[in-house]
Parts: sequence; C-alpha cells; structure tokens
Amino acid sequence: MTEATPTPPVGGRIVQRLSKAVDHRRHRLDRWLFAAPLCWWTIRPWMLTSSGHRLATRLRLQEAEHQFGRLLHLRSIFEDIAKHRLPGDFVEFGTYQGFSLAWLHLFRTSVGLGSRRLIGVDSFKGLPTSSTVWHQGQFSDSSVSTVCANLLRYHHLRDLSAVNLHLIEGLFEAPEVRAQLTALTSNIVLAHLDCDLGSSCDAALDLLDRATLAPTAYLAFDDWGCHVDEIPASFERYQARHPELSFEVQATTTYTRYFRCTRIR
Ligand SMILES: C[S@@+](CC[C@H](N)C(=O)[O-])C[C@H]1O[C@@H](n2cnc3c(N)ncnc32)[C@H](O)[C@@H]1O
Repeated sequence: MTEATPTPPVGGRIVQRLSKAVDHRRHRLDRWLFAAPLCWWTIRPWMLTSSGHRLATRLRLQEAEHQFGRLLHLRSIFEDIAKHRLPGDFVEFGTYQGFSLAWLHLFRTSVGLGSRRLIGVDSFKGLPTSSTVWHQGQFSDSSVSTVCANLLRYHHLRDLSAVNLHLIEGLFEAPEVRAQLTALTSNIVLAHLDCDLGSSCDAALDLLDRATLAPTAYLAFDDWGCHVDEIPASFERYQARHPELSFEVQATTTYTRYFRCTRIR
C-alpha cells in the first residue's frame, strides 16, 4: 500500500506558492537581463567586479552568474599570463558572433599583450550535430563579417588590420583548419573552448598537442557544467591521451571550468 503524501499546512502551502512565484520571476529577470545575446553586449568592463558576481550567485541569476563569472576568470588568466610572462597566443574554439572574442581582445590589450595573436575558429554554420541539449545548426546566425562588425562596434575600432586578429572558418575536424592554425601559431598559451558538444571539444583538443600548445597553458572550458557526457567526458579523454600534461583547476563557476596545464615530461 502506498502512503498518501501529507498535505502541508496552509502556512506551508502559501510559502511554497510564494517561493515558486519568486523562482519564476527570478528566471524571467535572468533571461531578460542576460539570455538575449543583445543584452550580453551591454556588459562593460567596469561592471566586472567580484561583488557583482557574488550578487548574481546569491540571487541565483544563473545566466548573469555565468557571464560575469567567466569574464572575471578569463581576465585573471590574462593577468597571470602577463605577470608570469608566459609566452604564446590566444585561441578561441567556438566564436559565434564574437562576444567572448571581443572580451579576449580587451583583456589581452589591457594587460599589455596586444601584440600577441588572437585567433577565433568557427564553422560559422552552427553546431555540426545534435546531442543532449544541443541541436544541429544551433548558432548558425553568424559569419566572419558579423564577428568583424561586432568587434569594430564594441571596441569603437576603425579597422581590425592593426589588432593581430585572425578568424579561421571551418570545422575543427577539417585538415585545412589544422593547417591554417599551425601556420599562425605553434605556441598557444590560452585556448578558450566554447563549442558546446563533446565531439567538437574532442576535435578542438586534438589541435592542442606538443606542436601547438605552450609548455604552460590555460584550457578554459565553457559549458563544462551543461552536461557531464559532453565537455567533462571530452576533457577526461584528452587527459588520458596526454600523460605528459598535468592539470590544475584554476577557476570554476556553475557552467565553466578553467585549467592551468603544464608539460611535465
Ligand atoms: C555557444 S557558440 C559560441 C559562443 C561564443 N563564444 C560567445 O561567447 O558568444 C558555439 C559555437 O561553436 C561552433 N562550433 C561547434 N562545433 C564546431 C566544430 N566542430 N567546428 C567548428 N565550429 C564549431 C558553432 O558554430 C558555434 O558558433
């Protein structure tokens, strides 16, 4: 015989309803504030404070926590790279419309590393396959010219030719992408992996080997917390393939995990 679920007292039911309503409002506020890509572009450098991030965490505004958290942590990685004079270039796998790329550009210039290469890699055709929460073709509303236009607008630049920015169009898996990447750099000090899918993350990580990765480098995984079978599983496969690398967690948020990676043999 199954036991009937006891009905909470009237006071309890009111509290339950109130907390449901608050959760609903919080979710709507979060979406309204940050989920629309247009709103992300309203984030300015002066807004990046740890108290802002703490507030978003306390209020459980998940999208705001993600955006502030990842930008704050990326900024401190750039500060570390500058402080320890770690050589190398910056690469992003999964550029979409250039939002995080614009921040990578800002951070590299703000720590005095503007002369280092910044490379964005994307098919600009959206996700190549569907898996877990992701669907094929998602994020297809972009192109090389969209990214350039966004960067020019966001940074009030006249042209991008002077800023050592390179965009590679194609699938990470494609041999032409490997060829273009290796022609541009043999020393990647930061790889920002923002490509959602485990299979895409595998392909991006395949491009990071002894020939391309700096002896000390940062691997910054966005989407880490979205689904365990995607990015964390891909990282574990990479770790198993590379016993010569040691990894130390540098920073983490609900969705992201950033590692410092050192060649030990
Ligand atoms: C979530 S979006 C990137 C968001 C961007 N970094 C930002 O902050 O706005 C993921 C991107 O990864 C790209 N992508 C995913 N898998 C890929 C693959 N195997 N090869 C090339 N691009 C891929 C998609 O085209 C998409 O633009």
